[in-house]
Amino acid sequence: MATLFGRVRYVIGALAVIWLVALAVPSAAQQPTSVNPTASSVKEEQLLRQLRRVEGRITIPDERASVLEQPEGRSWRQFHEVTLRWIGAIAILLMLAALVIFYLTRGMVRLENGRSGRTIVRFNAFERFIHWLTATCFVILALSGLNITFGKKLLLPLIGPDAFTIWSQWAKYFHNYLSFPFTIGVIVIFLMWIAGNMPNRVDVEWVKRGGGLIGNDHPPAYRFNAGQKAIYWLQMLGGTAMAITGYLLMFPFYGTDIGALQTAQMFHGIIAMLYVALIIAHIYIGTIGMEGAFESMGTGTVDLNWAKQHHSLWVEQEMARTGPNQSQAQPMATPAE
Ligand code: HEM
Repeated sequence: MATLFGRVRYVIGALAVIWLVALAVPSAAQQPTSVNPTASSVKEEQLLRQLRRVEGRITIPDERASVLEQPEGRSWRQFHEVTLRWIGAIAILLMLAALVIFYLTRGMVRLENGRSGRTIVRFNAFERFIHWLTATCFVILALSGLNITFGKKLLLPLIGPDAFTIWSQWAKYFHNYLSFPFTIGVIVIFLMWIAGNMPNRVDVEWVKRGGGLIGNDHPPAYRFNAGQKAIYWLQMLGGTAMAITGYLLMFPFYGTDIGALQTAQMFHGIIAMLYVALIIAHIYIGTIGMEGAFESMGTGTVDLNWAKQHHSLWVEQEMARTGPNQSQAQPMATPAE
C-alpha cells in the first residue's frame, strides 16, 4: 500500500512539473512564426521583416509612442545620415568653389569713376535693423541646423561627447527660439521691399547684358536690379518654406502623422542646404565681390558714383523727387565727410 502511495505521489509530482513548465512558455506556443519577440536584439532585423513594425507596450496615453521601429523610419534615417549630407556638401562646396573661381577671374567689381565725395541714403535705420536681425537669426539657425545634419560626423570626433552634448542642446534651443524673430524678419522684409522688387522690362535688359558682373558693362537699374530681385524672391520663398516645414517639426502631430513629419524634415533639410548656398553668394557680393556695396547696409549711405554705376535709374528717381541741390535732398544726398 505504502509503495502504491509513493508511486502516485511521484506521478502527481511529475504532472505538476510538466504543468508548470507548460505555463511558463505560453508565448512560444502561441507564436505563429519562428520569431520570439523577447529574444535578444540580434533578431531585431528578422522581427521587423516579419511584423513590418516593432511595437511595445506603454503606459502613457499617447499610443503613437508605442511604435519603436517602422520601415519608413529606416529610409528616413538613410536620407538624414547619407543623402542630405551629400546634398549639403555638394551645394555648399560647389557654391564656395564657384565664388573662389569667380573672384580669381573677375575680381572685385570696382568703382569705375572713383568716389565722388557725395553720398546718398540707400537704407534707413529701420530697414538696416530688420536686415541685420534677420541675417543674424539666419546665421545662427543655419549653424545650429547644420549641426543636426553634420555635427555627429564632423564635430563629435573633434570635441568629444560631453562638449558635443552641451553645444547641441544649446544649438537646439537657439534653433527653436530664434525661428520666431527670423520669421518676423522675413515677413517685414517681404512687405518693406516688395514694391522695389516687382519685375519690370529693365530687368530683361539687365540680365541680357550680364548684370555688369561679366565684363565692365553697367546696365541701368532702379532701386533693385534683377540679380537682387532674384535673391529677394528666392529668400522669400526659402524663408516661407523653412518656417512652414520648421513649425510642423517643432509642433509634431498637430495635423501631421509620422509620414508627413518625415516629408517636412526632408524638405526642411534640402531647402536649408540650397538656402545656405544662396546666402553665401549674397554675402560674397555684399562684401568682397563689389567695392562700396557693404556701406549701404553698414552706414546706410552709398557714394553717389556707386549709385550711378549700379542703380542709375534709381538715382534719377531720387534726384527728381528731392532735387539735386535742394534742402529736401539733404537726407538723400549729403556730402560725405
Ligand atoms: C522659422 C524658421 C525655422 C524653424 C521653425 C525651424 C525648425 C526646425 C526644427 C524643429 C528642426 C528639427 C530639429 C530636430 O530634429 O531636433 C530643424 C532642423 C533643421 N533646420 Fe530648421 N528651422 C527654421 C529655419 C531654419 C533655417 C533658416 C535654416 C538654415 C538655412 C535651418 C536649417 C535646419 C537644418 C539644416 C536642420 C537639420 C535637418 C536634418 O538634418 O534633418 N532651419 N529646424
